[in-house]
Amino acid sequence: MAQSIIILGGDGFCGWPTSLGFSQAGYDVTIVDNLSRRKIDVDLEASSLTPIQPISKRIRAWKELTGKQIEFVNLDVSKQYNKLLSVIKNAAPKAIVHFAEQRAAPYSMKSPFHKRYTVDNNINATHNVLCAIVESGLDIHLAHLGTMGVYGYGTAGMAIPEGYLNVKVEKRPGESVDLEILYPANPGSIYHMTKTLDALLFYYYNKNDGVRITDLHQGIVWGTNTPETLQHEALVNRFDYDGDYGTVLNRFLMQAAVGHPITVHGVGGQTRAFIHIRDTVNCIKLAVTNPPKQGERVQIFNQATETHTVRDLAKLVSKLTGAQVRYYRNPRKEDPENALQVKNDKLLAMGLNPIRLSEGLLTEVLEIAKKYGDRCDTSRIVSTSTWNKSIEPDFSGSPDPV
Ligand SMILES: NC(=O)c1ccc[n+]([C@@H]2O[C@H](COP(=O)([O-])OP(=O)(O)OC[C@H]3O[C@@H](n4cnc5c(N)ncnc54)[C@H](O)[C@@H]3O)[C@@H](O)[C@H]2O)c1
Repeated sequence: MAQSIIILGGDGFCGWPTSLGFSQAGYDVTIVDNLSRRKIDVDLEASSLTPIQPISKRIRAWKELTGKQIEFVNLDVSKQYNKLLSVIKNAAPKAIVHFAEQRAAPYSMKSPFHKRYTVDNNINATHNVLCAIVESGLDIHLAHLGTMGVYGYGTAGMAIPEGYLNVKVEKRPGESVDLEILYPANPGSIYHMTKTLDALLFYYYNKNDGVRITDLHQGIVWGTNTPETLQHEALVNRFDYDGDYGTVLNRFLMQAAVGHPITVHGVGGQTRAFIHIRDTVNCIKLAVTNPPKQGERVQIFNQATETHTVRDLAKLVSKLTGAQVRYYRNPRKEDPENALQVKNDKLLAMGLNPIRLSEGLLTEVLEIAKKYGDRCDTSRIVSTSTWNKSIEPDFSGSPDPV
């Protein structure tokens, strides 16, 4: 019999290709999503560069192509607890993949409303899922998407470990004790803060109720399509390019494709971890097929395949396309330069064969951006959300680092 899986947030950028990936692999997939991301697009007067289809049309196209049925339930995970519980009981899934959070740092910093929405939505969604798993009485593995940003991107010079850190603490002079602690959180935005709070909820529900949990600390996702979304135009994945939701490498490629300067913040010395969308799907499949054992602590994997500085990515895209690089005052409160090394041994040991940045894959994204370039509203490209009142947005940038 096919195994059942629930994908919370399965209409989103990572959730849609993941839902198709599991359906293709033979799982009975139920997508739970309140379509809030589509509503936020309306509020922001922005939209996906790619013409994403309504969820019912997406699911119908998949059924027509493959004969595989994906169920869809429209509910707010952060508010509709009883409905969530009955979906979980009915589907009795092997695993729940949890993408259903407000995921943009700039959006979370826009105003008190956006800060409060992000905290209310993300923390209540995560808590409701955990509480419902316990109340269902079912043994369900929860795989959650966290972010590499929970650690603030700085280290004491070593590679960021996968969740836990061994420390030596002085008990009394001359006597020390070895401890293992959660790697210290250091969130850089309200959004990142919600992910660090999620980690404590996982720690507690695992300790108290034995819920089996994998927290995937994901890098910045780039790319758009996967083998499944490429099968039909109606399955096309979301491509965010606006100043709130667009992620750095996809933004640079899209900017080059539509003739907009590449928007580097500050000097571009920020080093970040990256992963291609196809590897997002691959990693989640690996996490779901390798759950922690009963009684095991929360598994934490770094779901990232490489690190780059923003400046280097800008130069790479500029070299590939001839696009001009422009430097904008950094709207964020962050170090202008940082080094970052990330351990990803656990997913590699499970068989991940990383897809790395290559000219071929960059060109694939460029082609998509060119194909749908006429859908771009260039007034939405520059990031206007700033981290505090002392930072003024910069709409024009400069040819030299600022
Ligand atoms: N995209 C990235 O680069 C990236 C990087 C690291 C981590 N992540 C994490 O992966 C997850 C998915 O990211 P994404 O890029 O697919 O985001 P997304 O906004 O495209 O998708 C999230 C989906 O969840 C839904 N959702 C949000 N709140 C909900 C709620 N209360 N009830 C029901 N549905 C709800 C939205 O409608 C949307 O379809 C997020 O948790 C994010 O933090 C993403």
